[in-house]
Amino acid sequence: MADNEFQDSEFRDRVAFITGGGRGFGKAFGAALSARGARVVLADIDGEAATSAAAELSANGADVTGLACDVADESGVAAAMDAVATRHGGLDILVNNAGLHAAYNRPFHELGLSTVQRVFDVNVMGTVMCTMAAHPLMTGRPGAAIVNISSSAAYGNHTVYGVSKLAVRGLTMSFAREYAADGIRVNAIAPGLILTDTVRAELPEADLKRVLGQQLLSRAGSETDIVDALLYLASSKSAFITGETLRVTGGFALSA
Ligand SMILES: NC(=O)c1ccc[n+]([C@@H]2O[C@H](COP(=O)([O-])OP(=O)(O)OC[C@H]3O[C@@H](n4cnc5c(N)ncnc54)[C@H](O)[C@@H]3O)[C@@H](O)[C@H]2O)c1
Repeated sequence: MADNEFQDSEFRDRVAFITGGGRGFGKAFGAALSARGARVVLADIDGEAATSAAAELSANGADVTGLACDVADESGVAAAMDAVATRHGGLDILVNNAGLHAAYNRPFHELGLSTVQRVFDVNVMGTVMCTMAAHPLMTGRPGAAIVNISSSAAYGNHTVYGVSKLAVRGLTMSFAREYAADGIRVNAIAPGLILTDTVRAELPEADLKRVLGQQLLSRAGSETDIVDALLYLASSKSAFITGETLRVTGGFALSA
């Protein structure tokens, strides 16, 4: 089925801001939403990746822009939200996807304090800052939805990365509670192991084999599995769901 068969979907003309949008899940989310008619802003610390992903996705007429933004930098996040307000006048979907991951799935003492600080700044405070900065742009917009990207590592994994993603699950519940009265739903996806380029490059073969061995479904997860969860949680099909984290792990969840 061609992606543009969905051009007249409920996402048409909705505005989406996706952090870490230059590659991996973020770019795949941008592709899926823009193919369904959404106006998409890809924000990435790697500004070149964001602008080239935006150029690629807008080649057939979709409205996709890219900008440089470090989610751990408060003034940078404020400037990015100002750019969204100026260009689009508001925001319907925020995807807090930017994250430091594969190489950070290690004990605190191995990584050391300054790296731990950075992982928490990006994965935790980045989610807090983008959410709070997006709030005024999303308040009162029908169907407004925030989707955070947590991880299967948020369950029973006590590495620096696992704890940062456990915090993302907690933030999902906190902001769901705080923003419900403003009409904003807040949910999260906890992907299992998904072979994005970064994971292919950074994950040791032995870890890949171990994770696949712990899944109930034996195939590796794909970006499409996570995109489908995002489309569900960002749409009216999940209108009665808030504060939840959806595990998409091929059954790895049952081993954690
Ligand atoms: N791939 C997996 O198996 C997997 C599993 C569970 C959770 N996740 C989570 O999904 C998200 C995306 O994963 P991915 O595999 O697509 O990653 P990726 O490394 O392919 O892409 C992440 C993007 O985020 C950007 N980024 C990093 N730090 C940033 C910052 N401070 N501000 C803005 N952008 C920043 C990077 O430049 C990159 O473009 C991450 O939060 C990750 O923890 C991934």
